[in-house]
Amino acid sequence: MHAAFATSHNPARIRWNEKYSQRGLDSLRDSPSNWLVKHEELLRAQAKGWALDLACGNGRNAIYLARLGFTVEALDLSDVAISWLAKKVRTQQLAVHPKLRDLESATLPAARYQIILNFNYLQRSLFEQISDALSPSGVLIFETMTRDHIEVLGREFNSKYLLDHNELLHAFSDLRVLHYRETVIIDKASEKPKAVASLVARKK
Ligand SMILES: C[S@@+](CC[C@H](N)C(=O)[O-])C[C@H]1O[C@@H](n2cnc3c(N)ncnc32)[C@H](O)[C@@H]1O
Repeated sequence: MHAAFATSHNPARIRWNEKYSQRGLDSLRDSPSNWLVKHEELLRAQAKGWALDLACGNGRNAIYLARLGFTVEALDLSDVAISWLAKKVRTQQLAVHPKLRDLESATLPAARYQIILNFNYLQRSLFEQISDALSPSGVLIFETMTRDHIEVLGREFNSKYLLDHNELLHAFSDLRVLHYRETVIIDKASEKPKAVASLVARKK
């Protein structure tokens, strides 16, 4: 099934595969996101079980969670990234399960995950499924760019993939929001400023 998927003509997959092949996944920053590390105390206190990293890329955040004791499903559209990550976690014997998935057509299982991560990826049609996929007391940690990336920082970006002000806050208002911010951070990969919204929220 995955081989057939890998040869399909999915423009986003082709674009990301090209990006990862050109740069080489070994050269990408592998330190986890600051917003995730900032909440390590909460993560350590959380019941251990399944975690999910959506659009995992090189798996830097999935690996961080596995090292804290979670068993992580790491999903991404790019077979280049998924194959690279599969080899890495096998060699290092980490509890990360990389899976090739197009999230545009994926169905997340209900009430399964203690932790869900969504970093640097925006697919609004997933929001409801993300809430449903959290187990009771499960925690969502989310960070991606806002429209301030264009409006304040003057950067070029497809506005379709930028959050509106307060959008993330309202999108997960069925959860208990523990932390929320809209700010400018320095992107670890490019070392350039990036306008983001960041959220930590717990299933009631
Ligand atoms: C900016 S990278 C972020 C990677 C990772 N979350 C991080 O912060 O390091 C975006 C990722 O989204 C993945 N992606 C794009 N469209 C996707 C889709 N429809 N389904 C699954 N993954 C997708 C890309 O392959 C890429 O790895």
